[in-house]
Amino acid sequence: MKKLIVCGVFLIGCISFITVTSNDDPVPIPRSQQRFGNADSGYQYIISGDYVKSGLPLNLYQFIFKKEKNNLLDRAGDNSQVRYDFNVVKAVNGESVVVPNCFQCHAQFFDGKLIIGLGNSTGDFTREQKLKPFQKMLLSYLKLKPKKYEAAKDFLTVSLDIGDELFTDIVGANPADRLTALLVSHRDPVTLEWNRKPSVILPEQVIPSDVPAWWLLKKKNAMFYNGFGRGDFGRFLMGSSLLTTKDTVHAKEVDTHMPDVLSYLYTIEAPKYPKGIDEQLAGEGKTIFENNCSRCHGTYGANGQYPNLLIPESIIGTDSLLNKSNYQYSDLIDWYNKSWFSKGDHPATLAPFNGYIAPPLDGVWITAPYFHNGSVPTIEAVLNSKLRPRYWARDFVQGTSSGDSSKYDYEKLGWQYQSLPAPGNKYVYNTMLPGYGNYGHSFGDHLTDAERKAVIEYLKTL
Ligand code: HEC
Ligand code: HEC
Repeated sequence: MKKLIVCGVFLIGCISFITVTSNDDPVPIPRSQQRFGNADSGYQYIISGDYVKSGLPLNLYQFIFKKEKNNLLDRAGDNSQVRYDFNVVKAVNGESVVVPNCFQCHAQFFDGKLIIGLGNSTGDFTREQKLKPFQKMLLSYLKLKPKKYEAAKDFLTVSLDIGDELFTDIVGANPADRLTALLVSHRDPVTLEWNRKPSVILPEQVIPSDVPAWWLLKKKNAMFYNGFGRGDFGRFLMGSSLLTTKDTVHAKEVDTHMPDVLSYLYTIEAPKYPKGIDEQLAGEGKTIFENNCSRCHGTYGANGQYPNLLIPESIIGTDSLLNKSNYQYSDLIDWYNKSWFSKGDHPATLAPFNGYIAPPLDGVWITAPYFHNGSVPTIEAVLNSKLRPRYWARDFVQGTSSGDSSKYDYEKLGWQYQSLPAPGNKYVYNTMLPGYGNYGHSFGDHLTDAERKAVIEYLKTL
């Protein structure tokens, strides 16, 4: 940070010290006040609450999907019959509907076990899914059943209005930022009511992101890769309700549960590395890490400090499309900053920045793929940019229950993958596409192979 002494030529004397942040300096994010509640209630709300209030009628869900046998979350009643990433709730008219919950994106299988809070990198949001005919068929069927139609209508209308603009190019890439932007573009900022025609025209590109782990949030003073989510986190946590909320009455009700949800999120710990660790090598890695990485990623252990820094594009050098486009799209920022969410006694605001937050690295061994767009399959390649594959396909394993997971490489830390000579089908990550670039963050390049190995050993301990 550069301190400038501003001496007024036209003013009398020297007026003040003004701290000016140049475009090239990391910027610390100030803490903001949060609301807390009861963590257990927060978890219950996530796995059974009605933050989304319109969806597929339960009997139709049961007809289309096979009955869930595992009841992975040990839920009671109707919830025990549906997959872990759906809740059964009452629609406004009292009909039971099946709605997506947070675990669509915030839970994933690892080694056959569902890890809550681990970002889902197996979701298929590509165009090949062909949802539209399915939606149309459903709509026609439901029109014959007026009560069920009413219960599903908001959900179906929203998916028909925006479903076509949500596709990513690759399986695992998540379009949630796009989803939020689309929902907002159709909703009135003050009343939150849905308009069939968008009031804001968004840029066409769907920019992918990798879903961040929930256990990192408790260290962060701002939400999202860009750190632009400021103020009350609860207001962002309720983002999913934008899918079907009717008005601010529902929004207010959902908002009352957010202190509980935040308290729950703060209780989640990073999973421990399950294999042996070479303690001596990890100790050497710790010193190298503290000399090369801690200024951005912080220190760990009992007296660990996390600096909460935003790193400008000029320093970080990773793919900047997400920060340039989604986060700085002024219509979207304006919508939010004058909306219902920015009002009241616990407001939230969006404050865009030209770069990304340096994330805490707790549990980083399990959060492959790496960077905000998931463009790098292993930490070995994060630390040595020459090793980053241009086109790559991970090795999938069929999960024991409902989900797939990726084959893990416990040495390179990350996914087992094949590097390919050319782009391929939707399972091949193509780093040449806009928003999918794997460049930048070359902070490990100057280290020797032995030093990088030691850092990797240390990262296993976080
Ligand atoms: C369709 C997928 C999807 C669903 C559903 C979803 N999220 Fe997210 N979530 C994301 C993505 C992607 C990001 C990262 C966006 C970014 O940083 O730009 C994110 C970010 C977050 C973060 C910020 C983490 C951080 O460290 O900055 C939290 C907390 C969060 N989501 C909580 C929730 C909760 C609670 C729910 C359910 C009520 C939910 N999400 C539903 C995809 C989803
Ligand atoms: C100047 C600040 C800075 C330094 C120094 C730095 N990093 Fe980073 N690091 C970042 C930022 C910012 C990101 C997020 C980049 C993105 O997602 O586009 C990041 C991302 C990462 C990730 C990926 C995290 C994830 O979950 O996707 C890893 C791993 C990582 N850094 C490790 C290191 C290591 C090890 C070092 C030291 C050799 C290091 N970093 C040095 C700023 C820094």
